[in-house]
Formats: sequence, C-alpha cells, structure tokens
Amino acid sequence: MKKILAIVLAVAMIASVAMLAGCGQSKQNDAAATADSAKETLTMATNAYFPPYEYYEGDKIIGIDAEVAQAIADKLGMELKIVDIEFDSIITGVQTGKYDMGMAGMTVTDERKQSVDFSDSYATGIQSVIVPENSPITSVDDILAEGATYKVGVQLSTTGDIYISDDLGDAAAERVTQFQTGNDAVAALSSGKVDAVIIDNEPAKSYVAASTGLKILDTEYVSEDYAICFAKDNTALKDKVNGALKELIADGTVKGIVDKYISAK
Ligand code: ARG
Repeated sequence: MKKILAIVLAVAMIASVAMLAGCGQSKQNDAAATADSAKETLTMATNAYFPPYEYYEGDKIIGIDAEVAQAIADKLGMELKIVDIEFDSIITGVQTGKYDMGMAGMTVTDERKQSVDFSDSYATGIQSVIVPENSPITSVDDILAEGATYKVGVQLSTTGDIYISDDLGDAAAERVTQFQTGNDAVAALSSGKVDAVIIDNEPAKSYVAASTGLKILDTEYVSEDYAICFAKDNTALKDKVNGALKELIADGTVKGIVDKYISAK
C-alpha cells in the first residue's frame, strides 16, 4: 500500500512539474504573441555567412535574402523570424517542418527538387574560383587537368562542393576540403591550406575585398538560379510566397534590394 502511495505521489509530482513547465512555456508564447499582435510567424532557415545575401551586422542578420524575405512577410502580414543554421541542415530542417522555408542564396538543382519544392527564382549566381594573386591556376581546367594536385576548399553541400567533387571523381576525397562556412574556406585559402576556393560569385567578391592577396578568376564555373525552398507538402505557403514574390519583382522591390547590396557598390 505504501509503495502504491509512493508511486501515486511520484506521478503527481512529475505531473505538476510538467504542468508548471507547460505554464512557463505558454506564458512565453503569450508574451510573444501579444508583442507580434498575433501575426503568424514565417520562419526562414539560412546560413548567415554568405554576404551579400545573408550576413551579420552586429547581431542582426541583413542582406538581400533577409530583406526580400522581410518584404514577402510584410506583404503576407506575417512576422519574419530568421534562424541561422549550418547550410547543410537547411533542406532537412525545411523537409521536416522545423522551418517554414529555406532562403540562403540556394541554388535550384534537380537533386534538391527531389527533397524540397522551390519558389520562382529571385536571383542568379555563378560559381567562381578564388585563388591567391600569384597562383598558377588560371581556370577550373587547371584544377581538373590530368596530374594536377591542387587542393580545393568549398562550403559543405553547396553546389560548389557538389560540382567540383563530381568533376574530380575519385580524387575528390583527397583534394576537396569541405568547410562549414565560406569564411572558413577562404581563411584556409589565405593560410595556404588549400589552393583555390569554389564559391558563389557575390560572396567571392565580398571575401576577396575583405582579405589581401586573393583574386577571382575571370572564367566562370557554373551559372545558377537562386530560389526559396519549402517542404513538399507545403504548397499553400509556397503559392502565397510566390504570389508575393511576383508582385515584389514586378514593382521593382527585389531589384531595388539587389541593387542596394550589389550593383550600386
Ligand atoms: N548557391 C550555393 C548552393 O545553393 C551556395 C549557397 C550557400 N549559402 C549560404 N547561405 N551559405 O549550394
């Protein structure tokens, strides 16, 4: 009998602790809801080391994607929340519904289309090659040439990683180093750990401008389209975002944002 009582008490205690925790939680949510005047949240997953699309200014994430997403959220009457995670985790996070959408200068590829749906494209990118100023490498062909041993740095799971790893085939394991951010890849280039970095052209320009002794090769590797990704079962949100995006492209808002960060510089 005593034993049963002990168990009943223990269960009651756990239940009340759980209830208390639950209360705390809902209080927080309520506070947030009041502050946002009950706007629905639009959670965007990104990887914020990718200027000028997304990067930190102090503790705020700014850039083309951040501003276009804000304009979309405003149009839809939603509250934008940007979450900075590893690039490699964006698609899974969106697929599993942890985030409403992924926006990260993300290239539309057939392989990714098997996991997520993409919005209409809102920008284009080019994979380019960064090398030290005195590098003997003059094009991607030099890296791919028979007998070449050049080491290449990339951001893990980006198209730069996918294309060069594909092109190098068996040699990729030894010659491609995958970094968590573009910053890390460029730092490895500056310190001579790799001979070249393959990355999108606009971040490449920002990185080269911020470091000394690096240059971008004139030859372009691959050109691509950037779009926002959604879970495959979330066509309702994808359609809403596409509608907003269409209007923002048509009225010049998207171009204005892009110009502010790129062309106007
Ligand atoms: N465009 C490339 C890709 O989709 C690189 C994107 C990296 N983006 C980022 N926010 N780090 O694979």
